[in-house]
Amino acid sequence: MTTTISVKIDSYKSLVKQAKCLIGEETNLIANLSNITSLVHYTFDFWWSGFYLLDDNELVLGPFQGPVACTRIGYGKGVCGTAWQTNKVQIIPNVHEFPGHIACNAESNSELVIPFTRNNVFYGVFDIDSKKFDNFDEIDAQYLSEILNLLN
Ligand code: SME
Repeated sequence: MTTTISVKIDSYKSLVKQAKCLIGEETNLIANLSNITSLVHYTFDFWWSGFYLLDDNELVLGPFQGPVACTRIGYGKGVCGTAWQTNKVQIIPNVHEFPGHIACNAESNSELVIPFTRNNVFYGVFDIDSKKFDNFDEIDAQYLSEILNLLN
């Protein structure tokens, strides 16, 4: 295991603990999504981090950190809509090579989108963009999924 990977895993282990504390007994979903977004975003210095939530058969922008973003994404559209359609994590090393990628901001070069499920029902996606190419891997997906599971 390289040092970089172990540092990343340690950061995520700490992040999971912080997320548990932040959520605590709070039951308001928007409050929790907002704080989780901020925690993740500033821990790793991502370019854009946030939720798109299912609303009337579209994904609609939810709590986020970063530059302004597009507000609505259709089923199967872009990376987010593909995560919804396939119900699978999307790890995109180079967004410019992803057919149909929705470029909310020209600075983004890689992206990770995780389906967000509550009580076994699709609820939206958690989307992270990075200025770096190839910035995401299974470690990010695994620990961020664990954090999303705290929001059930
Ligand atoms: N790139 C996403 C759109 C959302 S922004 O990245 C914030 C997509 O292709 O679905």
